[in-house]
Amino acid sequence: MEISDEKLVEIAKKSLKNAYAPYSNFKVAAALLSKSGKVFTGVNVENSSYGLTMCAERVAVFKAVSEGEREFVKIAIVSGKGKKTFPCGACRQVLYEFAENLEIILEEEGKIYKTSLKKLLPEGFKLKK
Ligand code: THU
Repeated sequence: MEISDEKLVEIAKKSLKNAYAPYSNFKVAAALLSKSGKVFTGVNVENSSYGLTMCAERVAVFKAVSEGEREFVKIAIVSGKGKKTFPCGACRQVLYEFAENLEIILEEEGKIYKTSLKKLLPEGFKLKK
C-alpha cells in the first residue's frame, strides 16, 4: 500500500519532538519512504562543535541505507517553524546518490507542496554509470 503525502508529513511531524537543535532552535524532521514501503524518519542532531551538526534528511537516508534499503520513492520534510523547508545542498546530493527521481514533499501551515529532486538538483554529481 502506497503511503499518502499527508501521512508521510504526519509521520515527519511526529518525530519533530526528537530533533536536537539547542543552538539554532530550528528543528527539522524528515520521513523517507523506501520502494519496499518502509518509512525511515530523521531529525537534525546539532553539536556544540557546530560543524558536526547533521541534517534531518541525511539522518533518514543513513538510517535507511544502514538497514539495507537503497531505493526511495519520496521524502517529507517539516520544520518546527511551520514554514516550507527545502533540503540543503549537501542533503540534495546525498539523496541524489540513491534516488534521482525522488519526490519531495514540503509543508507550510497545513498545506502540502510537492517538488522533485530533479528540479532541486538538475545535475547532481555521479561517479557511477
Ligand atoms: N537543517 C536540516 O536538518 N536540514 C536541512 O536541509 C537544512 C538545515 C538543520 C541543520 C541545523 O541543525 C538547523 O537546520 C539550522 O541550520
